[in-house]
Amino acid sequence: MNRGVVVLVVLSAALLAAWGAIAQTGKGAEQIKLAGGSQGPVPFPHHRHQKALGDDCLACHAFFDQESGSIAKSKAEGKIAPKQVMNTMCIQCHRDRKAAGRPSGPIGCAKCHVKE
Ligand code: HEC
Ligand code: HEC
Ligand code: HEC
Repeated sequence: MNRGVVVLVVLSAALLAAWGAIAQTGKGAEQIKLAGGSQGPVPFPHHRHQKALGDDCLACHAFFDQESGSIAKSKAEGKIAPKQVMNTMCIQCHRDRKAAGRPSGPIGCAKCHVKE
């Protein structure tokens, strides 16, 4: 290979990697494990929610930033109370949708919190 081709190959690989990183951080992780205190952690299917909610990010991110650890950070800063996200966001939406006969998520403690 001549030098020009090598430079081109290296550059394209770098561009592809950068694009992948942007696309990934843009929508966040596919699956997230949330801290759930004494009841144990809560596995959370992030991308499945984005899809089911038609990319309405604010359904959740009106409560906390699009940033890993933002729930804990907002709790520490006193912006949200413990269990507030669980009650007014997660469970409230699942309950409303279930009542309306639409696809929904769990309401019982042990369906969300898992013991490790
Ligand atoms: C049903 C709730 C919900 C919806 C809807 C939602 N997110 Fe999230 N998102 C979360 C939670 C929970 C976290 C993790 C917060 C934490 O770690 O404290 C998170 C974290 C993130 C992060 C940080 C990186 C990571 O994976 O932890 C990004 C970026 C993000 N979301 C982007 C988005 C975008 C873009 C949308 C809309 C297309 C969206 N989210 C829709 C709940 C949601
Ligand atoms: C839809 C899923 C879901 C269900 C159902 C659920 N939880 Fe949670 N729980 C969470 C999430 C997410 C958090 C972390 C965010 C927060 O504190 O609001 C949490 C946090 C907690 C915490 C820790 C609060 C803290 O900051 O220390 C306790 C304790 C808890 N839940 C108990 C329960 C009990 C008891 C039930 C049943 C009556 C229950 N949860 C049902 C998702 C759920
Ligand atoms: C605005 C509405 C909304 C909010 C807020 C929301 N959910 Fe859901 N959840 C849904 C819908 C809709 C589904 C069904 C998705 C599907 O069928 O693909 C679902 C499904 C789930 C499932 C999958 C259950 C299974 O069958 O595997 C879990 C777990 C879950 N939600 C946990 C949570 C937790 C934890 C939170 C809070 C951090 C949360 N949800 C916030 C609407 C919501």
